[in-house]
Amino acid sequence: MSTDIVWGVATAAFQIEGATAEGGRGPSHWDTFQQQPGAIFHGEDADVACDHYHRWAEDLDLMASLGIPAYRLSLSWSRLQPTGRGQLNPDGVRFYRDLLRGCRQRGIEPYVTLYHWDLPQPLADEGGWPARATAEAFGDYARLVIAELGGLAENWITINEPICASFLSYDWGMQAPGHTDPDEAIRAAHHLLLAHGFALAAFREILPEARVGITNLLSRIRPFSDAAADMAKATEADARMNGLFMQPVHHGSYGELVESLFPQLTDPDLVREGDLQLISAPGDFTGINHYTNVLVKADDTSPFHGYRMIQVEPTPTSFDWSDTPEALHALLVWVAHEYTDLPLLVTENGATFHDYVTPDGQVHDPERIHYLEGYTGAVLQARADGVDVRGYFAWSFMDNFEWSWGYSMRFGLVFVDFGTQERIPKDSAHWYRDFIAGHASPLPTSKETTA
Ligand code: FCB
Repeated sequence: MSTDIVWGVATAAFQIEGATAEGGRGPSHWDTFQQQPGAIFHGEDADVACDHYHRWAEDLDLMASLGIPAYRLSLSWSRLQPTGRGQLNPDGVRFYRDLLRGCRQRGIEPYVTLYHWDLPQPLADEGGWPARATAEAFGDYARLVIAELGGLAENWITINEPICASFLSYDWGMQAPGHTDPDEAIRAAHHLLLAHGFALAAFREILPEARVGITNLLSRIRPFSDAAADMAKATEADARMNGLFMQPVHHGSYGELVESLFPQLTDPDLVREGDLQLISAPGDFTGINHYTNVLVKADDTSPFHGYRMIQVEPTPTSFDWSDTPEALHALLVWVAHEYTDLPLLVTENGATFHDYVTPDGQVHDPERIHYLEGYTGAVLQARADGVDVRGYFAWSFMDNFEWSWGYSMRFGLVFVDFGTQERIPKDSAHWYRDFIAGHASPLPTSKETTA
């Protein structure tokens, strides 16, 4: 059966590239954060990661040999613009030009994310995302990138998961820079959305044919029971986690409930005139990352806004996240109903298990195959039900540096031996190859221009 859904894989620069001190790259706030004692599981770092900076051609060969037609990757801001300001670094431009051309030479369509969390350290030193100047610097950076690399991909994601780049980074202390200040987090959230707005405007001006969108981490949040307290807390959690990021993009305002939870958003110094117009300018698609399925239970003793998040069973993954594909189906239907008529792209979905190489030299991961069967099926079902979902990107192409979890969480379709850098496609990679062959994606409409 052929569909017009693009089936791909995803990665992010900091999680795979390594070579953090090569090719003129400057430090990002993740390079700094990972050095803090206790920040990363087992004290690991991403200095080598998958060594993709040196092995990109072989990695793309492997991707092509698995018949994967689309690859979502991210550009390292620190590699392209080491200080976050000024001219682009020619070595960084060359690296990404080769990579993007290398994709197309192998029949792989690149989907490029401009920001997947690796903020140049000099901008972090000047205040990072809580500072409006960071969003402005990102807008300038986007213009330079579009001019240099814009012709090498048709699909662009501006910002990956602003919720993580704001709350996990500035409030919950789990991600770079590891701060624990809720006020910084809400300021960061607005500025990340504004950065999306600046980048979108830059594309419209410089490269109007590009297809552009933002990617949010979303989950259809439901109450644990129909008790009034659970229902009220579920509504609040939905506003904090989904509404804060979806309302301004798709409805042009934060809305009363979000503003009542985050009164800073009514401060005209933070949300300035014209910001919401930029943020809500129509994109070409909306990106959705989805991993797990939670219920919200009111609990006065919880320090987290008086509620707890309960994972829906079964939760077989190493993170204790759910394997409940009906949640992705419900999410896609809900986003289309509640927020937008734009095409939807599932820009990340996947699961982590304790994978290992067995004596036959293979990696058998039936749990991941089960997960992927379910979630790709949910996408097909949503499509059959009339939702305009156009793409699905498995997270991740290969095992990589899972942020503060280091190398302990393996999300890849391809196993990476981090000692030898050997790649071994897991059973799930073979399953995905066969799935893709049976649900052929449209041929990429390649229109590479010289860049
Ligand atoms: C997402 C991130 C991605 C990866 C997966 C597991 O939130 O975008 O980089 O860490 O989670």
